[in-house]
Amino acid sequence: MSRVAYVNGRYVPHSRACVHIEDRGYQFSDGVYEVCEVRGGHLVDERRHLERLVRSLKELRMDMPMALAPMRVVLRETVARNRVSDGIAYLQVTRGVARRDHAFPPPGTRPSFVVTARSIDRARQETAAEDGVAVVTVPDNRWERVDIKTVSLLPNVMARQAAREQGAREAWFVDSKGMVTEGSSSNAWIVTNDGLVVTRPAERGILKGITRTVVLEIAAAQGLRVEERGFSVDEAKTAKEAFMTAASQIVMPVIAIDGSRIGNGAPGPVARELRARFHKIAEIAS
Ligand code: PDD
Repeated sequence: MSRVAYVNGRYVPHSRACVHIEDRGYQFSDGVYEVCEVRGGHLVDERRHLERLVRSLKELRMDMPMALAPMRVVLRETVARNRVSDGIAYLQVTRGVARRDHAFPPPGTRPSFVVTARSIDRARQETAAEDGVAVVTVPDNRWERVDIKTVSLLPNVMARQAAREQGAREAWFVDSKGMVTEGSSSNAWIVTNDGLVVTRPAERGILKGITRTVVLEIAAAQGLRVEERGFSVDEAKTAKEAFMTAASQIVMPVIAIDGSRIGNGAPGPVARELRARFHKIAEIAS
C-alpha cells in the first residue's frame, strides 16, 4: 500500500512529499516535532503530546500552524489513510519558508506543517522487550533547552549512531558530573537494589517525556516507591534493573550498560510490569 503524508494543507504520496529548500526547518533546524504512539488505530496520549507541542512552539516563539481541533483531524486522517494499526504518528512544525536570514522571518510567514504515520512491527518490539536491550553512554553535548522538543537533533543522531556501531539500541547521555541525563530519544530509569524506582527530575537537562509522565502515574498507582533524582552511570551499572521510556518503545528493559550486565542480565519484574500496565493507564484517543 502506498503511503500518504500531510504537507501544508494537502495529502500527497509519501514518495513525492516535499518542502521548499528554504524551509527554516531544513536550513536552521528551526522547528519542533512530536511522536505519538498509534495502537489499534488510535492515538495514545494525544492530548499530552499536543500540550507539549503547544509549549515547545511557545518557548521558541513560533506560531501554531492551525488550531488544535483541525490538527487532531489531520492526525487521524493521516493515520487512517496510511492504515496504521500499530505504529507512530509524526508531526513537525517549522517557522516556515523565507529567504535565508538567521533572525525570524517576516511576520505573517506561515509555519510549515507536516504529518506522517507508519506501522511498527509490534511482534518485533515485544521480542526486544522480552530480551531486553543494551545501551552505551556518551557525553551530553547538547544545548541547555533540551526540554523543548526541537528537530535540532544532531547530538542525538551522533549518539545513536555510536550506540548502533557498538551493537546497542540506545545511547544514554551523561553530564559533566557523571550523571545520566536521558537517552538519545528516550528517558532513562533505574530500579535500585532496595526497590526504589529512580528517574531524573524533568525541570532541567531532559525532555519531559509523555511516557515518563504516564509511567510515574502507573508506578504511584502500584504503590512503588519513586524518587525523581539524578543517578550516575556507576549507580546505574550496579542497579537491580534499568529501563527506558519513549512513545515509540513504551517501557523497554535495559540489560547492559557499556557492556556491564544489569541485575541478572534479563528484564526485571518492575520494568516488565510497568510495560504490561502502560496501555491500561495511557489515554487512548477516540
Ligand atoms: N523521542 N527524550 C528524548 C531526547 C526524546 O527524543 C524522547 C522521545 C523522549 C521520550 O519522550 P516521550 O515519552 O514523550 O516519547 C525523551 C521520540 C520518540 C523520537 O524522537 O522519536
